[in-house]
Amino acid sequence: MSLRNKQLPPKVLAVSSGKGGVGKTNLVANLAYSLAKKGQRVLVFDADVGLNNIDVMLGLVSNVHIGHVLSGKRKLEEVLVEGPEGIRVLPASNGWQELTTLENEQKMVLMEELDRLSASFDFLIFDTGAGISSNVTYFCCAAHETLLVATTEPTSHTDVYALMKVLFKNHQQKHFKLVVNSVKSEKEALDVYRTLSSVIDRYLTHVTLEYYGHIIQDPNVPKAVRRQKAFVELFPYSKASICVNDLCDKVISERSQIPMDGDRVFLWKSVFQA
Ligand SMILES: Nc1ncnc2c1ncn2[C@@H]1O[C@H](COP(=O)(O)OP(=O)(O)O)[C@@H](O)[C@H]1O
Ligand SMILES: [Mg+2]
Repeated sequence: MSLRNKQLPPKVLAVSSGKGGVGKTNLVANLAYSLAKKGQRVLVFDADVGLNNIDVMLGLVSNVHIGHVLSGKRKLEEVLVEGPEGIRVLPASNGWQELTTLENEQKMVLMEELDRLSASFDFLIFDTGAGISSNVTYFCCAAHETLLVATTEPTSHTDVYALMKVLFKNHQQKHFKLVVNSVKSEKEALDVYRTLSSVIDRYLTHVTLEYYGHIIQDPNVPKAVRRQKAFVELFPYSKASICVNDLCDKVISERSQIPMDGDRVFLWKSVFQA
């Protein structure tokens, strides 16, 4: 690990989409694995209270979660699960929804614990749920960057658009990065990007959407999901893995860029006070 990395605060990424089933959790799990493989210390926050969560995808076993920390039964370190390549996962629970109802003193304690914990990681990645609920937007606000995942399905475009709109109108976020998943070619991904960009240019003129990359539709992805392992681990040379590897290199190369638009300043406070 470089000296520079040691001095930087963790880079915080939220992976979101508006629509479910577009590949967010696959992206988070495989990006986390790839980052860790390249020496980065990664903490994944499962901020999705739904099913098919990251612990299931990576075959991790846990019967404790953030809810146990909130109720005082466990310390934060005790609920972290160790995944492949040393990635750490904070499992989901309905606990996330309870954050806003905590007493101020409880919030302070938890914030301090999270701050202390975060300091020993290079990357924090939030796997948010689908939709535009406050549970999703809290985590996008608490991140330095929001990576939006869409596919070629038009419903995923309208849902990504709806999410950008709410993050811009309610939280002044202006910059988003787009990953287009399950495509046959990069051209198909760029077509999705152009479609979305043209809608933004017309209706959300202050927002910028950056094309961040694509992931090829690959039969090895569902195979790895069934085997509860990262596809980049099981099939490192398959098409989807090569794409995630490219994304990983990009994420590392932009490690020190900390955009400051809107509420998007990494502070646990933004999660708790939203
Ligand atoms: N690039 C891909 N190629 C093939 N199948 C994919 C790809 N990405 C995702 N999938 C499939 O889509 C399903 C949903 O992905 P998931 O990551 O759980 O979505 P989300 O977290 O957005 O709900 C997965 O079970 C997986 O089998
Ligand atoms: Mg998911």
